[in-house]
Amino acid sequence: EDHYFVSHKGFNLIRGTHDPSEVDGIRDYEVRDSDVFVVTYPKSGTIWMQQILRLIEAKGDITSEELNFDQVPWIELIGKGKEFVAAPSPRLRVTHLPYHLMPRALSQKKGKVIYVARNPKDVLVSYFHFHKFATMLETPKDFNHFFEKFIRGDVYGNSWFEHMKTWYAHTDHMQILFITYEELIQDLRASVERIASFLGKNLTDAQLADVVKHSTFKNMRLIPQANYEMVSDDLLNHHNGTFMRKGTIGDWKNHFTIAQNEIFDQVFQKEMKDFPVSFVWD
Ligand code: PPS
Repeated sequence: EDHYFVSHKGFNLIRGTHDPSEVDGIRDYEVRDSDVFVVTYPKSGTIWMQQILRLIEAKGDITSEELNFDQVPWIELIGKGKEFVAAPSPRLRVTHLPYHLMPRALSQKKGKVIYVARNPKDVLVSYFHFHKFATMLETPKDFNHFFEKFIRGDVYGNSWFEHMKTWYAHTDHMQILFITYEELIQDLRASVERIASFLGKNLTDAQLADVVKHSTFKNMRLIPQANYEMVSDDLLNHHNGTFMRKGTIGDWKNHFTIAQNEIFDQVFQKEMKDFPVSFVWD
Protein backbone atom coordinates (compact mmCIF):
# COMPACT_ATOMS: atom_id res chain seq x y z
CA GLU A 1 0.00 0.00 0.00
CA ASP A 2 1.34 3.34 -1.08
CA HIS A 3 0.42 6.02 1.46
CA TYR A 4 0.41 8.63 -1.32
CA PHE A 5 -2.89 7.13 -2.49
CA VAL A 6 -6.41 6.78 -1.18
CA SER A 7 -8.39 4.01 -2.87
CA HIS A 8 -11.75 5.17 -4.20
CA LYS A 9 -14.08 2.62 -5.82
CA GLY A 10 -11.09 0.50 -6.74
CA PHE A 11 -9.09 3.39 -8.16
CA ASN A 12 -6.11 5.15 -6.57
CA LEU A 13 -6.65 8.85 -6.00
CA ILE A 14 -3.66 10.99 -4.96
CA ARG A 15 -3.89 12.50 -1.48
CA GLY A 16 -3.98 16.29 -1.58
CA THR A 17 -4.46 16.29 -5.35
CA HIS A 18 -7.90 14.67 -5.62
CA ASP A 19 -10.95 14.87 -3.40
CA PRO A 20 -12.85 11.56 -3.32
CA SER A 21 -16.27 13.15 -2.78
CA GLU A 22 -15.72 15.56 -5.64
CA VAL A 23 -14.57 12.74 -7.93
CA ASP A 24 -17.65 10.83 -6.87
CA GLY A 25 -19.87 13.59 -8.27
CA ILE A 26 -18.37 13.37 -11.77
CA ARG A 27 -20.42 10.27 -12.62
CA ASP A 28 -23.64 12.32 -12.56
CA TYR A 29 -22.42 15.40 -14.40
CA GLU A 30 -24.47 16.57 -17.35
CA VAL A 31 -22.53 16.40 -20.57
CA ARG A 32 -22.99 18.81 -23.45
CA ASP A 33 -22.64 17.82 -27.08
CA SER A 34 -19.76 20.27 -27.38
CA ASP A 35 -17.75 18.74 -24.48
CA VAL A 36 -14.48 17.01 -25.35
CA PHE A 37 -12.67 14.69 -22.95
CA VAL A 38 -9.14 13.52 -23.62
CA VAL A 39 -8.80 10.24 -21.75
CA THR A 40 -5.39 8.72 -21.14
CA TYR A 41 -3.50 6.42 -18.90
CA PRO A 42 -0.76 8.69 -17.45
CA LYS A 43 2.26 9.36 -19.70
CA SER A 44 0.48 8.40 -22.90
CA GLY A 45 0.35 11.79 -24.59
CA THR A 46 -2.03 13.83 -22.42
CA ILE A 47 -0.30 17.18 -22.63
CA TRP A 48 0.41 16.64 -26.29
CA MET A 49 -3.32 16.18 -26.97
CA GLN A 50 -4.06 19.16 -24.71
CA GLN A 51 -1.93 21.28 -26.98
CA ILE A 52 -3.46 19.87 -30.18
CA LEU A 53 -7.02 20.46 -28.89
CA ARG A 54 -6.27 23.96 -27.82
CA LEU A 55 -4.68 24.75 -31.15
CA ILE A 56 -7.51 23.23 -33.18
CA GLU A 57 -9.95 25.33 -31.17
CA ALA A 58 -7.88 28.46 -31.89
CA LYS A 59 -7.34 27.48 -35.55
CA GLY A 60 -3.59 27.23 -35.06
CA ASP A 61 -3.19 30.54 -33.24
CA ILE A 62 -0.81 30.32 -30.26
CA THR A 63 -0.86 33.94 -29.09
CA SER A 64 -3.17 33.44 -26.07
CA GLU A 65 -1.03 33.27 -22.95
CA GLU A 66 -3.42 31.11 -21.00
CA LEU A 67 -1.74 27.89 -19.84
CA ASN A 68 -2.92 24.55 -21.23
CA PHE A 69 -3.27 23.48 -17.61
CA ASP A 70 -6.06 26.08 -17.27
CA GLN A 71 -7.50 25.93 -20.76
CA VAL A 72 -7.78 22.13 -20.92
CA PRO A 73 -7.77 21.16 -17.21
CA TRP A 74 -7.78 17.73 -15.54
CA ILE A 75 -11.38 17.25 -14.47
CA GLU A 76 -10.41 15.15 -11.41
CA LEU A 77 -8.16 17.75 -9.75
CA ILE A 78 -9.45 19.42 -6.58
CA GLY A 79 -11.80 22.28 -7.47
CA LYS A 80 -11.90 21.48 -11.19
CA GLY A 81 -15.15 19.52 -11.01
CA LYS A 82 -17.14 22.51 -9.77
CA GLU A 83 -15.45 24.68 -12.35
CA PHE A 84 -16.46 22.23 -15.09
CA VAL A 85 -20.13 22.34 -14.16
CA ALA A 86 -20.25 26.13 -14.47
CA ALA A 87 -17.89 26.57 -17.42
CA PRO A 88 -19.03 27.98 -20.76
CA SER A 89 -18.84 25.79 -23.87
CA PRO A 90 -16.77 24.37 -25.34
CA ARG A 91 -15.51 22.51 -22.28
CA LEU A 92 -12.23 20.81 -23.18
CA ARG A 93 -10.92 18.50 -20.46
CA VAL A 94 -8.29 15.83 -19.88
CA THR A 95 -8.53 12.96 -17.43
CA HIS A 96 -6.83 9.78 -16.31
CA LEU A 97 -10.00 8.43 -14.72
CA PRO A 98 -11.26 4.94 -15.53
CA TYR A 99 -14.53 4.43 -17.38
CA HIS A 100 -16.55 3.70 -14.25
CA LEU A 101 -15.75 7.09 -12.68
CA MET A 102 -16.57 9.25 -15.72
CA PRO A 103 -20.01 10.75 -16.53
CA ARG A 104 -22.65 8.16 -17.37
CA ALA A 105 -23.92 10.49 -20.09
CA LEU A 106 -20.86 9.63 -22.21
CA SER A 107 -22.36 6.23 -22.91
CA GLN A 108 -25.49 7.92 -24.24
CA LYS A 109 -23.26 9.41 -26.93
CA LYS A 110 -23.20 12.82 -25.25
CA GLY A 111 -19.93 14.70 -25.70
CA LYS A 112 -16.81 13.37 -27.38
CA VAL A 113 -13.94 11.28 -26.07
CA ILE A 114 -10.43 11.08 -27.49
CA TYR A 115 -8.62 8.11 -25.98
CA VAL A 116 -4.86 8.31 -26.44
CA ALA A 117 -2.98 5.05 -25.93
CA ARG A 118 0.78 4.44 -25.90
CA ASN A 119 2.80 1.25 -25.88
CA PRO A 120 3.00 0.38 -22.19
CA LYS A 121 6.75 -0.24 -22.05
CA ASP A 122 7.38 3.39 -22.97
CA VAL A 123 4.57 4.44 -20.62
CA LEU A 124 6.32 2.62 -17.78
CA VAL A 125 9.66 4.31 -18.51
CA SER A 126 8.13 7.77 -18.85
CA TYR A 127 6.18 7.22 -15.64
CA PHE A 128 9.32 6.11 -13.78
CA HIS A 129 11.05 9.39 -14.66
CA PHE A 130 7.92 11.35 -13.81
CA HIS A 131 7.89 9.89 -10.29
CA LYS A 132 11.29 11.46 -9.60
CA PHE A 133 9.95 14.82 -10.71
CA ALA A 134 6.37 14.98 -9.36
CA THR A 135 6.28 15.76 -5.65
CA MET A 136 2.78 14.28 -5.17
CA LEU A 137 4.07 10.81 -6.09
CA GLU A 138 6.50 8.54 -4.26
CA THR A 139 10.07 8.70 -5.58
CA PRO A 140 10.93 5.16 -6.74
CA LYS A 141 13.75 3.34 -4.95
CA ASP A 142 15.04 2.12 -8.30
CA PHE A 143 13.79 1.11 -11.73
CA ASN A 144 13.02 -2.48 -10.81
CA HIS A 145 10.99 -1.43 -7.81
CA PHE A 146 8.90 0.85 -10.04
CA PHE A 147 8.68 -1.84 -12.74
CA GLU A 148 7.01 -4.16 -10.23
CA LYS A 149 4.66 -1.46 -8.96
CA PHE A 150 3.57 -0.66 -12.50
CA ILE A 151 2.86 -4.31 -13.30
CA ARG A 152 0.84 -4.65 -10.08
CA GLY A 153 -1.07 -1.48 -10.95
CA ASP A 154 0.07 0.11 -7.70
CA VAL A 155 0.36 3.58 -9.30
CA TYR A 156 -1.97 6.43 -10.18
CA GLY A 157 -4.02 5.06 -13.09
CA ASN A 158 -3.91 1.57 -11.53
CA SER A 159 -3.42 -1.22 -14.07
CA TRP A 160 -2.55 -0.04 -17.58
CA PHE A 161 -4.16 -3.22 -18.91
CA GLU A 162 -7.46 -2.64 -17.13
CA HIS A 163 -7.62 1.04 -18.06
CA MET A 164 -7.14 0.28 -21.71
CA LYS A 165 -9.42 -2.74 -21.90
CA THR A 166 -12.29 -1.15 -20.00
CA TRP A 167 -12.38 2.04 -22.03
CA TYR A 168 -12.01 0.09 -25.25
CA ALA A 169 -14.85 -2.26 -24.31
CA HIS A 170 -17.28 0.68 -24.26
CA THR A 171 -16.30 2.32 -27.53
CA ASP A 172 -19.53 1.26 -29.27
CA HIS A 173 -21.63 3.31 -26.87
CA MET A 174 -19.66 6.52 -27.10
CA GLN A 175 -18.55 9.11 -29.60
CA ILE A 176 -14.92 8.16 -29.24
CA LEU A 177 -11.74 8.50 -31.26
CA PHE A 178 -9.11 5.96 -30.34
CA ILE A 179 -5.62 7.11 -31.33
CA THR A 180 -2.10 6.14 -30.30
CA TYR A 181 0.93 8.15 -29.27
CA GLU A 182 2.87 6.27 -31.92
CA GLU A 183 0.46 7.39 -34.66
CA LEU A 184 1.01 10.97 -33.53
CA ILE A 185 4.77 10.47 -33.72
CA GLN A 186 4.66 8.73 -37.09
CA ASP A 187 2.33 11.13 -38.86
CA LEU A 188 1.38 14.20 -36.85
CA ARG A 189 -0.25 15.95 -39.79
CA ALA A 190 -2.57 13.03 -40.61
CA SER A 191 -3.36 12.60 -36.91
CA VAL A 192 -4.28 16.26 -36.48
CA GLU A 193 -6.55 16.01 -39.53
CA ARG A 194 -8.25 12.95 -38.06
CA ILE A 195 -8.77 14.72 -34.74
CA ALA A 196 -10.10 17.90 -36.36
CA SER A 197 -12.49 15.90 -38.51
CA PHE A 198 -13.70 13.90 -35.48
CA LEU A 199 -14.40 17.21 -33.74
CA GLY A 200 -16.20 18.56 -36.80
CA LYS A 201 -13.73 21.42 -37.24
CA ASN A 202 -12.94 22.70 -40.69
CA LEU A 203 -9.45 24.14 -40.76
CA THR A 204 -7.66 25.47 -43.81
CA ASP A 205 -4.39 23.86 -44.87
CA ALA A 206 -2.49 26.81 -43.42
CA GLN A 207 -4.32 26.51 -40.09
CA LEU A 208 -3.65 22.77 -39.96
CA ALA A 209 0.00 23.44 -40.69
CA ASP A 210 0.10 25.85 -37.74
CA VAL A 211 -1.46 23.30 -35.40
CA VAL A 212 1.17 20.78 -36.46
CA LYS A 213 4.02 23.26 -36.20
CA HIS A 214 3.15 24.27 -32.63
CA SER A 215 2.67 20.72 -31.42
CA THR A 216 5.94 19.11 -32.44
CA PHE A 217 8.12 18.00 -29.53
CA LYS A 218 10.83 20.47 -30.47
CA ASN A 219 8.47 23.43 -30.48
CA MET A 220 6.23 22.41 -27.59
CA ARG A 221 9.31 22.29 -25.36
CA LEU A 222 9.78 26.01 -25.94
CA ILE A 223 6.13 27.05 -25.56
CA PRO A 224 5.51 28.09 -21.92
CA GLN A 225 1.72 27.65 -22.23
CA ALA A 226 2.31 23.98 -23.07
CA ASN A 227 5.52 22.70 -21.46
CA TYR A 228 4.51 22.87 -17.78
CA GLU A 229 7.59 24.78 -16.68
CA MET A 230 5.16 27.28 -15.08
CA VAL A 231 3.64 24.72 -12.68
CA SER A 232 4.65 25.55 -9.13
CA ASP A 233 7.54 23.89 -7.32
CA ASP A 234 5.09 22.46 -4.77
CA LEU A 235 3.81 20.09 -7.45
CA LEU A 236 6.82 19.55 -9.67
CA ASN A 237 10.46 19.54 -8.66
CA HIS A 238 11.84 21.15 -11.79
CA HIS A 239 15.42 20.22 -10.85
CA ASN A 240 14.59 16.55 -11.21
CA GLY A 241 12.94 16.44 -14.59
CA THR A 242 10.62 17.88 -17.18
CA PHE A 243 7.26 16.97 -18.73
CA MET A 244 8.83 17.22 -22.16
CA ARG A 245 11.47 14.57 -21.45
CA LYS A 246 12.35 12.62 -24.58
CA GLY A 247 9.27 12.25 -26.77
CA THR A 248 10.28 9.12 -28.68
CA ILE A 249 9.19 5.54 -29.34
CA GLY A 250 11.29 2.74 -27.85
CA ASP A 251 13.12 4.34 -24.91
CA TRP A 252 12.16 1.22 -22.92
CA LYS A 253 15.08 -0.51 -24.65
CA ASN A 254 17.45 1.75 -22.73
CA HIS A 255 15.83 0.78 -19.42
CA PHE A 256 14.46 -2.79 -19.45
CA THR A 257 16.76 -5.71 -18.71
CA ILE A 258 16.24 -8.87 -20.77
CA ALA A 259 14.59 -10.51 -17.76
CA GLN A 260 12.23 -7.58 -17.20
CA ASN A 261 11.32 -7.60 -20.86
CA GLU A 262 10.43 -11.29 -20.70
CA ILE A 263 8.26 -10.74 -17.66
CA PHE A 264 6.55 -7.80 -19.31
CA ASP A 265 5.88 -9.72 -22.52
CA GLN A 266 4.32 -12.58 -20.57
CA VAL A 267 1.99 -10.27 -18.68
CA PHE A 268 1.12 -8.39 -21.85
CA GLN A 269 0.29 -11.56 -23.76
CA LYS A 270 -1.83 -12.88 -20.94
CA GLU A 271 -3.75 -9.64 -20.42
CA MET A 272 -4.08 -8.45 -24.01
CA LYS A 273 -4.40 -11.67 -25.99
CA ASP A 274 -7.92 -10.88 -27.22
CA PHE A 275 -7.36 -7.16 -27.62
CA PRO A 276 -7.87 -6.07 -31.24
CA VAL A 277 -5.34 -3.22 -31.28
CA SER A 278 -1.63 -3.75 -31.86
CA PHE A 279 1.04 -1.43 -30.56
CA VAL A 280 4.20 -0.02 -32.08
CA TRP A 281 7.15 -0.82 -29.81
CA ASP A 282 10.08 0.76 -31.65
S1 PPS B 1 0.86 13.10 -17.87
O1 PPS B 1 1.64 13.41 -16.66
O2 PPS B 1 0.13 11.86 -17.74
O3 PPS B 1 0.00 14.20 -18.27
O4 PPS B 1 1.95 12.91 -19.02
P1 PPS B 1 1.62 12.81 -20.57
O5 PPS B 1 1.50 14.17 -21.13
O6 PPS B 1 0.51 11.86 -20.81
O7 PPS B 1 2.91 12.11 -21.14
C1 PPS B 1 4.17 12.72 -21.16
C2 PPS B 1 4.97 12.09 -22.29
O8 PPS B 1 4.54 12.64 -23.54
C3 PPS B 1 5.66 13.17 -24.21
N1 PPS B 1 5.28 14.30 -25.06
C4 PPS B 1 5.52 14.33 -26.39
N2 PPS B 1 6.11 13.42 -27.20
C5 PPS B 1 6.24 13.76 -28.51
N3 PPS B 1 5.83 14.93 -29.02
C6 PPS B 1 5.24 15.88 -28.24
N4 PPS B 1 4.84 17.03 -28.76
C7 PPS B 1 5.06 15.58 -26.86
N5 PPS B 1 4.55 16.24 -25.79
C8 PPS B 1 4.69 15.45 -24.72
C9 PPS B 1 6.59 13.59 -23.08
O9 PPS B 1 7.88 13.81 -23.53
C10 PPS B 1 6.46 12.37 -22.17
O10 PPS B 1 7.08 11.20 -22.69
P2 PPS B 1 8.61 10.78 -22.37
O11 PPS B 1 8.79 9.42 -22.96
O12 PPS B 1 8.79 10.80 -20.88
O13 PPS B 1 9.46 11.80 -23.07
